[in-house]
Amino acid sequence: MKNNRTFTMIKPDAIQNGYAGLILAEIEKAGFKIVAMKMRQLSTEAAKEFYQIHKERPFFNDLINYMTSGPIVAAILEKENAVLDFRALIGNTNPEEAEEGTIRKMYAKSIDANAIHGSDSDENAAIEAAFHFDNDEII
Ligand code: CMP
Repeated sequence: MKNNRTFTMIKPDAIQNGYAGLILAEIEKAGFKIVAMKMRQLSTEAAKEFYQIHKERPFFNDLINYMTSGPIVAAILEKENAVLDFRALIGNTNPEEAEEGTIRKMYAKSIDANAIHGSDSDENAAIEAAFHFDNDEII
């Protein structure tokens, strides 16, 4: 994947609270172009595979239960410096520590249900994007 791209998921809490459109608007206002997008319900198996990096962490089971509690919106976003700029836009993993104006500050309730995911490196963005999208689903 090109280095000016990142991967995101709008998480089940945000979808259930009716924030999907508002969050996508924030993303576009910040200058990101959506180059792929789909809504899907993750199976337990798919969630475990996506989050295998966290499988030894104490919060792993809660994370899987939460991420399979309802549909997610997966998307690939394009912008110069996409990975770092998107991490800044979404804010700290823990919404209580997220800066004013960030997506997690505005739309997340807790570190578990934190509204949105953003890849932490170009390498992981490519891996995560390939997990959710075939090449012909990406603009
Ligand atoms: P994210 O970085 O998108 O992917 C892993 C998720 O695990 C993270 O968001 C949080 O929602 C969740 N999580 C729950 N507890 C923790 C914790 N103590 N540290 C990091 N992530 C956590």
